[in-house]
Amino acid sequence: MARILVTGGAGYIGSHTTHYLLARGHDVQVLDDLSKGYAHNVPKGRLHVVNLHDSSSLDQLLAAHRFDAVVHFAAFIAVGESAREPERYFRNNAGGSLALLEAIERHGVRRLVFSSTAAVYGNPERVPIPESAPLLPVSPYGESKLMTETALKWLDACSGLRYVALRYFNACGAEAAFGIGEEHEPETHLIPLVFRAIRTGVPLTVFGGDYATPDGTCIRDYIHVSDLASAHLAALDSLLAGGASGVFNAGTGRGYSVLEVLRAAGEVTGKKVPFVMGPRREGDPAELVADSSKLRKTLGWAPQYDSLSAMVESAWGFENRRHGPAGT
Ligand SMILES: NC(=O)c1ccc[n+]([C@@H]2O[C@H](COP(=O)([O-])OP(=O)(O)OC[C@H]3O[C@@H](n4cnc5c(N)ncnc54)[C@H](O)[C@@H]3O)[C@@H](O)[C@H]2O)c1
Repeated sequence: MARILVTGGAGYIGSHTTHYLLARGHDVQVLDDLSKGYAHNVPKGRLHVVNLHDSSSLDQLLAAHRFDAVVHFAAFIAVGESAREPERYFRNNAGGSLALLEAIERHGVRRLVFSSTAAVYGNPERVPIPESAPLLPVSPYGESKLMTETALKWLDACSGLRYVALRYFNACGAEAAFGIGEEHEPETHLIPLVFRAIRTGVPLTVFGGDYATPDGTCIRDYIHVSDLASAHLAALDSLLAGGASGVFNAGTGRGYSVLEVLRAAGEVTGKKVPFVMGPRREGDPAELVADSSKLRKTLGWAPQYDSLSAMVESAWGFENRRHGPAGT
């Protein structure tokens, strides 16, 4: 059993990981300012409503719990918004991470798992993308995450912090046993937007049907949120056992096009997905698929969800728990 601080644990991926950490017997506290997350995602008595920039509250929390490790999810996540408000993204994501790193240094916490992103690669030259691919973000969001990765690399070299950065591809799905799921506001992720279109009848806009992919729409690597949580558990196990720092892609290695996702959603729900084909969205690469062999080999991780329909089905289950069965 270890004492773990989860930042951003009231959000989508952080709350799933918190539940899995508790199920493993760890003692978990959650820090979240609820700017985006929800108190109802966090098991009772574990939530501390604190912003990463509030150093005195952070100091109190760290002094009271003497954590063995931190799992750091807290960040803003919308790529498009980051292009409109870059200062806010750099301040919250890069600045907030630095404030956290300074605080844990003051309190002697030397292990951290960080939520990075495939957005650090920008428009990759080839897929599947290995971790060694050029790091050329095309959004302030991606850059803000790369800045944190850079700080972590230097803290590892200079001050002995040990970290794992997981570069997530497209998180999706929900774990029914925990009663939580994806509730971003505004929602920018494809699968919940498809369900919204089914529920409201307002057509979804597909951004671009003229990419150099088999059906012309963008291809992404979808990873179930429970498989992401298990990657965090494996990363923590390694760090707590004295393992070295590392950077790993977290994806399944299998890509699906937007139209394939729409088709899977139609099959799972038994409903027609209303959509219109729109122009390309600036900065969207045609294809993002992870080479996840390093995570599999080094940390012994393997995804449990390997079919798109199983992932869509689990997200649909949450959608129905949240809004009631669509069409009723
Ligand atoms: N969802 C994805 O597909 C995806 C893909 C790649 C990377 N990521 C990364 O994973 C992490 C979690 O993503 P998510 O989808 O769960 O997002 P989310 O918005 O659901 O969760 C983020 C949480 O962080 C909190 N937060 C933000 N800034 C904070 C601050 N300064 N102080 C305290 N709390 C703060 C929010 O209130 C929210 O609860 C993020 O770092 C994101 O960049 C997500």
